[in-house]
Amino acid sequence: MKLWGGRFTKPTNQLVEEYTASISFDQQMWRQDIVGSLAHVAMLGKCGILPMDEVKQIIAGLKKVKEKIERGQVTFQVAHEDVHMNIEKLLIEEIGPIGGKLHTGRSRNDQVALDMHLYLREKMLELIQLAAYLQNALLDQAANNLDTVMPGYTHLQRAQPVLFGYHLMAYVSMLQRDMERLQDAWKRVNVLPLGAGALAGTTFPIDREFVAELLQFDGVYLNSMDAVSDRDFIVEFLSAASLLMAHLSRLCEELVMWSSQEFSFIELDDAFCTGSSIMPQKKNPDVAELVRGKTGRVYGNLIGILTVLKGLPLAYNKDMQEDKEGMFDTVATLHGALALLTPMIETMQVNKQRMRQAVAEDFSNATDLADYLVTKNLPFRQAHEVVGRAVLYCIEQKKYLLDLSLEEFQRFSPLIDADVYQALDADTVVNARKAMGGTAREQVEKQITAYRGFLEQTKSWINQTSQKVSIESLVDVGSPV
Ligand code: ARG
Repeated sequence: MKLWGGRFTKPTNQLVEEYTASISFDQQMWRQDIVGSLAHVAMLGKCGILPMDEVKQIIAGLKKVKEKIERGQVTFQVAHEDVHMNIEKLLIEEIGPIGGKLHTGRSRNDQVALDMHLYLREKMLELIQLAAYLQNALLDQAANNLDTVMPGYTHLQRAQPVLFGYHLMAYVSMLQRDMERLQDAWKRVNVLPLGAGALAGTTFPIDREFVAELLQFDGVYLNSMDAVSDRDFIVEFLSAASLLMAHLSRLCEELVMWSSQEFSFIELDDAFCTGSSIMPQKKNPDVAELVRGKTGRVYGNLIGILTVLKGLPLAYNKDMQEDKEGMFDTVATLHGALALLTPMIETMQVNKQRMRQAVAEDFSNATDLADYLVTKNLPFRQAHEVVGRAVLYCIEQKKYLLDLSLEEFQRFSPLIDADVYQALDADTVVNARKAMGGTAREQVEKQITAYRGFLEQTKSWINQTSQKVSIESLVDVGSPV
């Protein structure tokens, strides 16, 4: 017998049962569902809606159900459609018809919204923690590469020399914004939808603020129709996740490139690479490639939920059951990517010699020759032209700028003196970029100090927040009643 069977004269068509069920995936939220029910029934008792002895029986029953699930003694059933009705059925099996009182003043619509808020606030916190570990690994590598000069690129053509530490700090900055976006979105996840009922609120004298307090929510949805219709919080998560994946994907693309024989700028640790079934010499950066590849599914999940929501009338529609798989998949995808990238970055060997040599064999100091002429009072546009001609000459002669004799230099401009060699030296060139935010060592050190400070702030946010949201710590919410 279905929980909603009273109005029906026939059993459900089996294909309909399978088609409409969400238990295969929403069972991931069984803990959240039980915790939400514990808080709900505690509130029903406190408000005198259910007598205390029944409340106590329901709480004990829910805890038994929890233990049975943990021991693997429960098989969720498609016939009971979703995690909410499966657990209610289990409760009724456990304690009898009193279990049927749990759903008083509640609908699956506010229940499922609650479960997802509980789920996501916990998972987002975990992901922020993992992103902070990755940021820390990048900061450490940056600090170890304050003397590593490499070519910086635009259009993937050698542009100007930079420190490898500076290049890595760009990713540290991206991750900082990613974590801030997730933290900001988290504020809107930590709001209680329960008590909204199906859509119109409830006739029972419930106390939503009491439930919010038990479950450590910072606020309550003020409009019940909004509470059961809102999926913005998932969209925000998926959009912050998409940007984070975009950044990880760009980093991974560079790891793939830098570890190629053509670049040989880095070597990834054997433990984080794989081989080929046919070519014995191969060592492939599969993890980096897969992170890059999996970015597509996260974007897909974002577009998926946006499309589901577009044009849906208020309030709940079954379409909204499609909100979950993309959310679960995104959590798992981000989790895997962040957890693997951190040790990959930590163990990455940097070929400092090779990077420096690359700069010696290119024209990435050409801007500095132009800047040098500008300090000798030549207008920049003319200096650009002079250096362009010098570069062309070098290409013809198979030389680089620093190979030119002073006499050759002076053919292009009499303003050039013997001090030009020092001016074009790779370390000089890098360290000359001292203006705020530049690649000069002193600036990169400042950036590292600043971001270590931000990381400390993130850590204390994580500490404060994790005290609130651990599902396990909330299991006893009903006990004080
Ligand atoms: N499994 C459903 C979902 O995920 C739960 C809410 C069902 N509500 C309803 N009115 N049918 O969307």
